[in-house]
Amino acid sequence: MVETKSITPSENGPYFIEGAIAIRGTDGQNLAEGKERVLLCRCGGSANKPFCDGTHRNGFEGTEVADRGPIASRRVAFKAPGITIFDDRSICAHSGNCTDNLTKVFKLGIEPWIDPTGEAPSEIARVVNMCPSGALSYVLDDTAGPDATPTEVARPQEVTPLKNGPYAVTGGISATSPSGEPYEIRDRCTLCRCGASTNKPFCSGAHWDKGFEAEGV
Ligand code: SF4
Ligand code: FES
Repeated sequence: MVETKSITPSENGPYFIEGAIAIRGTDGQNLAEGKERVLLCRCGGSANKPFCDGTHRNGFEGTEVADRGPIASRRVAFKAPGITIFDDRSICAHSGNCTDNLTKVFKLGIEPWIDPTGEAPSEIARVVNMCPSGALSYVLDDTAGPDATPTEVARPQEVTPLKNGPYAVTGGISATSPSGEPYEIRDRCTLCRCGASTNKPFCSGAHWDKGFEAEGV
């Protein structure tokens, strides 16, 4: 029995998933039922997605380049009465859940792109909770300091392959490199599965440019 749940991007290869983590299929079933270790495709080329079929051996280059520093050192705070929105642009997956669902606050193509006064804090919180990458987070407090711990809703520890996009990882599962270097644990993050991210192992939105196609939720 593997006690610790973890995700490890292997060197130029798949993600090693350990500890009976559910892999959610399109109709909600656990694709990894009964398994304590699975390999998930990271190069985007597997014919057996989301699982690895060895295609990465054709020359996949999966070097990790994401910043390992503290999240608090990267994020920017936007404050309005009753709320502080945090934004870590480095890990946005460009899913558009924010700009599609709350245009009064999240403004495509305008700087600054976040207006925290544009809607009630409770509605902003509802939409920020839809951000799969965790680039956006919040606290319902406009006096929050730079090291404040964001409010998170309870999410299961699981991996969900998103349609034509990354793996959405929820529940604070640790991501650690083969070298043993950890990333700060996030309640949610998106990991690249198209092979083209410029911020590996996290998704950078490059799957859009690549025209990546894969089944998912
Ligand atoms: S990942 Fe989050 S911040 Fe980026 S576009 Fe999607 S909802 Fe917005
Ligand atoms: S899945 Fe988004 S950049 Fe690869």
